[in-house]
Amino acid sequence: MPEIRKKPLLFEEYPDLEGNVPWIKLVPSETPVKKLTKIEEKFGTHSLWMKCDDLTSPLYGGNKSRKMEFIYAEALNQKCRKVITAGAIGSNQCVANAIFCQQLKLKPIAIMIDQPVTSFVRNNLLLNVYFKNEIYYSQETIPKSDDSYFITPGGSTPLGILGYIDAALELKNQVNNGEITEPDYIFVPTASSGTAAGLTIGVKLAGLKTHIHAVQVSFASISNFKVIRRLSIKTKKYMDKYDKSIPEITFEHLHYNEDYYGGEYGLPTRDCLEAIKLLNTAEGISLEPTYSGKTFAALLGFVRANKLDVKDKTILFWNTYNSRDFSDILKKVDYHDLPKELHWVFEEPLPDYGI
Ligand SMILES: Cc1ncc(COP(=O)(O)O)c(C=O)c1O
Repeated sequence: MPEIRKKPLLFEEYPDLEGNVPWIKLVPSETPVKKLTKIEEKFGTHSLWMKCDDLTSPLYGGNKSRKMEFIYAEALNQKCRKVITAGAIGSNQCVANAIFCQQLKLKPIAIMIDQPVTSFVRNNLLLNVYFKNEIYYSQETIPKSDDSYFITPGGSTPLGILGYIDAALELKNQVNNGEITEPDYIFVPTASSGTAAGLTIGVKLAGLKTHIHAVQVSFASISNFKVIRRLSIKTKKYMDKYDKSIPEITFEHLHYNEDYYGGEYGLPTRDCLEAIKLLNTAEGISLEPTYSGKTFAALLGFVRANKLDVKDKTILFWNTYNSRDFSDILKKVDYHDLPKELHWVFEEPLPDYGI
């Protein structure tokens, strides 16, 4: 049974953070770890796992909920009534913001830019309609006001990153409880770099020997080794304000992999489509082509290239993609309820990626 969370493990480990760092609960319990036995058989490895962050919240799974526990707490402390965020048209963060704002009785606003269209992009746009996101698309002005709070694209501020430090402490707990062997490697998608930064700090603070393989899935300007390191140092400084006992962070365990990006944000690559199909056929797990598919492809590429060396190592795929089923909701939404400038997304033919 997954453990119910009363508060972040981060607050238990560093009690001086509690009360100083804003937090509200959005992730009800720790997320399970699952052994991918069918993939192990296929690739001749013995310890291949998934951290099921697709199940962070029954409202919307994926990596946003962990970050937003700290971010919304700040927005609420500041008595904000509106929460603005920005992303591409298929952004999971805009959907997450719409859903959690509804829960917290806040008004969600999304600023959107283009990306290659897939069925995942279309579905996310429809969810924005259903959850009443106010959408600004390709417009010059940002609808800011005194009662609005802005979440940066990806939510990779020190507050958001704390969510993934806490996630690493949760993993350590699962290692201690014998639910999973201590991972040698974690594979995680890297766009605005906060998830990777949190895990990079978190495994160190947890005393895990784990190497972090941060897989590029977005523009090199926001997704790179230096950004992960810079964000990690900034987050450590933020924690130092309240707790001087936190050890220094080093980065020898951080590896950045740009080989599976494919040159464009959101563009499905052949490797990514193969990886998605493989995981779905073998284990019944659904990924998407912007983040999690490219990351799982990188993991499989690593296993293939280092077959003998990694056969007895523990490799953990960190699944950051929501798995709440929205199919019933999607049937009820009409794209004509989106701003007119976005109708083309549904009116131009969709490339057939076979997923
Ligand atoms: C499903 C999914 N995985 C991974 C990421 C990337 O996380 P980060 O922006 O912290 O690098 C995102 C969002 O950007 C996402 O929506």
